[in-house]
Amino acid sequence: MADTRRIGIFGAGWVGLVTGGCFAELGHEVVVRDIVPERIDALRAGKLPFHEPDLPEVLVRNAQRITYTLEAEELAGTDVLFICVQTPPTYSGDADLSYVWNALDELPRVERRQILAMKSTVPVGTGESVRAALEARGLTNVGYASNPEFLAEGTAVRDFLNPDRIVIGAFHEEDAASVEALYSGIEAPVVRTDVASAEMIKLAANAFLMTRISFINEIANVCEAVGADVVEVAQGIGLDHRLGPHFLRAGIGYGGSCFPKDSLALKQLASNSGYHFQLLSAVIEVNELQKRRVVQKLQKHLGKLRGRKVALLGLAFKPGTDDMREAPSIVLASRLLAEGAEVRAWDPVAKPGELLKGAVQCDTVIEAVTGADAAVVVTEWPELRELPSAEVREAMARPLIVDGRNLLDPDATRAAGFAYEGIGRASSAFESLPGTPERVWRNREVPPAETASDRTTRKPK
Ligand code: UDX
Repeated sequence: MADTRRIGIFGAGWVGLVTGGCFAELGHEVVVRDIVPERIDALRAGKLPFHEPDLPEVLVRNAQRITYTLEAEELAGTDVLFICVQTPPTYSGDADLSYVWNALDELPRVERRQILAMKSTVPVGTGESVRAALEARGLTNVGYASNPEFLAEGTAVRDFLNPDRIVIGAFHEEDAASVEALYSGIEAPVVRTDVASAEMIKLAANAFLMTRISFINEIANVCEAVGADVVEVAQGIGLDHRLGPHFLRAGIGYGGSCFPKDSLALKQLASNSGYHFQLLSAVIEVNELQKRRVVQKLQKHLGKLRGRKVALLGLAFKPGTDDMREAPSIVLASRLLAEGAEVRAWDPVAKPGELLKGAVQCDTVIEAVTGADAAVVVTEWPELRELPSAEVREAMARPLIVDGRNLLDPDATRAAGFAYEGIGRASSAFESLPGTPERVWRNREVPPAETASDRTTRKPK
């Protein structure tokens, strides 16, 4: 068990609550401070404002050790103050640090040494600026450390308590030691470094993960062109110990609250310093194009999409979360609507509201696929493994599944009577289904779709 310390958290968002809850789990006293009264009221009433597995239990189990407050003064008695505020992109692509500066403005004056620890993802150089700001305010007894988080949504509690590493960058050894001591009880390598390098580790780790995803997505696109299967290829690549198996799942692109924002921030950081980060620019562009590939896949099977009904299954940017920030589903839905398709959207937890304006929101998979010309797996929710069922096939106007996450077994899906189209693997057309095309169009009011080949052979007017 760690030496018990008093820990302050600026910001009761996702990072702040996971950090606060997990430090309480390690035995520390935690004060979580936010500026939004409704959020603090909800937390005091035991309500979590977002979906994150295990976090509700952690907060309940450690309720005695966690205080929620609106008052910055209540942070005065804490030893280490974690800044866990949002750093959204500005119009220029830089990270907006105004919440960080607001937190600094509100720092309570303390007599003894206190350490400010940065959890928010910030540009390299932020620590240096904060240190200068602290000195300018005469807050010389406030130390500073960069202690980035590497938490993934849906597994954040596990990631915090079983991390691959703990990174601490500080200006003074004793500050780094104080932050490290908070983690005692956790088995993990600790990387102690300078502040700028700690800030860069976070940005570079995210950029590298995104690079792997865009890389495998491009390999998938080439696989489609040359007749290879990206799932097999990724397995073969991942067994090389120099490469490893992670983040090689091809799909319709990454989204979320971190990758898109942090990649832009790193690209901007580099260009502000006079460097054009070419590889990262390509990674971002590949991801944007990947989100749109499903539209071409649908057109390949259905021809023009005007009037076609398309079920989008899974809306969150990944399973295990209700977060739709930068989710591929948003781009996909608006592209389909722009093509004149009817979009029927389903997710087990995400509530899209205005984000999917113009789409029909459905409560069940069956409701979404009823009458649909295609069902698209957008997020690999485990329940969608059951999608290729007789019930779904009968409900659909056309039995076409576009598997945007390679969740399903292509052969089993075909055997269940569906045309199948994955990402980077062999596809099968309606014509390959037994008894088609009669069976497919039988008893359906919709006329057979104009196919891509119809379009290419049509004479110009
Ligand atoms: C990520 C990082 O993993 C985490 O360390 C960092 O602190 C915050 O950003 P998160 O955004 O929660 O976490 O999700 P993650 O599981 O990393 O997935 C990000 C996106 O990449 C998702 O849209 C996911 O579907 C996609 N992805 C992931 C792929 O397309 N292929 C993969 O192989 C892995």
